[in-house]
Amino acid sequence: MFARRIVVVGTGYVGLTTGACLASLGHRVVCSDVNATKVEQLSRGEVRIHEPGLTELVQEGIAAGRLEFVVGSAGAVAEAEVVFLCVPTPMGAGGEADLAVVEAVAHEVRELLPAGCVLVTKSTVPVGTSARLRELVGREDVPVVSNPEFLREGSAVHDFLNPDRIVVGSDSQDAAERVAALYARLGAPTVLTDAASAEMVKYAANCFLATKLSYVNAIAELCERLGADISDVTEGMGYDRRIGQSFLQPGPGWGGSCLPKDTAALLQVAGAVDFDFPLLQATISSNARQRERMVAKVVEACGGSLDGVRLGLLGLTFKAGTDDLRDSPALEVARLLAARGAELVAYDPGLRGDEAALPPEVELVDDPYQAAKEAAVLVLLTEWQEFRALDWNRVAEALQGPVVVDTRNHLDPDVLRRAGLSWRGVGRTPVA
Ligand code: UGA
Repeated sequence: MFARRIVVVGTGYVGLTTGACLASLGHRVVCSDVNATKVEQLSRGEVRIHEPGLTELVQEGIAAGRLEFVVGSAGAVAEAEVVFLCVPTPMGAGGEADLAVVEAVAHEVRELLPAGCVLVTKSTVPVGTSARLRELVGREDVPVVSNPEFLREGSAVHDFLNPDRIVVGSDSQDAAERVAALYARLGAPTVLTDAASAEMVKYAANCFLATKLSYVNAIAELCERLGADISDVTEGMGYDRRIGQSFLQPGPGWGGSCLPKDTAALLQVAGAVDFDFPLLQATISSNARQRERMVAKVVEACGGSLDGVRLGLLGLTFKAGTDDLRDSPALEVARLLAARGAELVAYDPGLRGDEAALPPEVELVDDPYQAAKEAAVLVLLTEWQEFRALDWNRVAEALQGPVVVDTRNHLDPDVLRRAGLSWRGVGRTPVA
């Protein structure tokens, strides 16, 4: 019943997770990628992406004969029943989503797709892309479906196998139902709609999440000025089921490969249809301001100037549990600190010095105490769990000054206080 032949084009974290998880649900899956070295590694069960559980699923899929990897999409699609496009849609120069790769793949496979095969876009594509693809493919017998993904980096496998919802949109009811049926075993609520609405769900959801965070970060600032405590405020807000407890954690601003790109793209799409969207504009500009605010905290902790001041940084990735530096707020704060003359020594458990593409002004070391060594101030930028368990007496000995700026409210101020350190967070009273 489940032995469909699915082709997944692109083996990034979305494509590979989709391929491996669909194979684990019993489907026969072929994943294609243009990178021959990557295909070779994946065929041996070697996964270079940091996603918990993914290596195991890939290896199980290969061993069960349900998952294979091939170079290029042209050869892969000949017997396909469903083809998922999971290729990058980076931000173009004007903030719009760059569809060059999606269109190139569609162009490459259009005449090779068997009759009745369903072409699915999983990449985040602007509203109207499915319609454009239908024209580009130009085949009456190949329906196009939008099936956006809602996978968080670092918990992609978990999110795929435990979805809050499945969204499938198409002009062809039959095609939409066939795609929805692939996920039937997951038992998730399923929204069957038209292609434009499915595409919109993805943007509307990500932009809502970004707005939620910009809002929380603004409330945190207000808490600082009014002497309230953001942790208690968000807890109190979150018990309202219409708000919910998650995605309420203040920080140095939101980042990563999705939210910045998708907010810019929706703003661009809105502009193209003459829709003024000041709310989304404010969401984006508040986020830029949030990074500046974190810098101001560090400047204050350093007594007014960063010139020649050595700072220790804990975390550089855009969030914990990933090695991804794309649009990382932590990295952006680091750049701003460096621009003000600070010397930066950073530690991040997800990064290895030889691989990380860091700006030259950031020195990466491989242990947190080394980052703290002789630093005037220690700045926590990414919420890695292991930072809570540091030997804070050892950190205090290594540091030159007593202040820790915690841009994620991640540390226990009392633990730091007992080690003789003072803690400064976001939206909370400093602890001396
Ligand atoms: C995001 C969405 O959460 C996924 O649902 C979506 O599928 C994905 O984009 C995508 O479009 O592919 P992701 O970029 O992996 O997932 O990261 P998130 O966990 O959403 O975090 C985004 C940013 O918000 C990070 O910089 C994170 O540190 C920040 N954040 C998140 C906070 O500052 N506070 C929070 O409470 C939560």
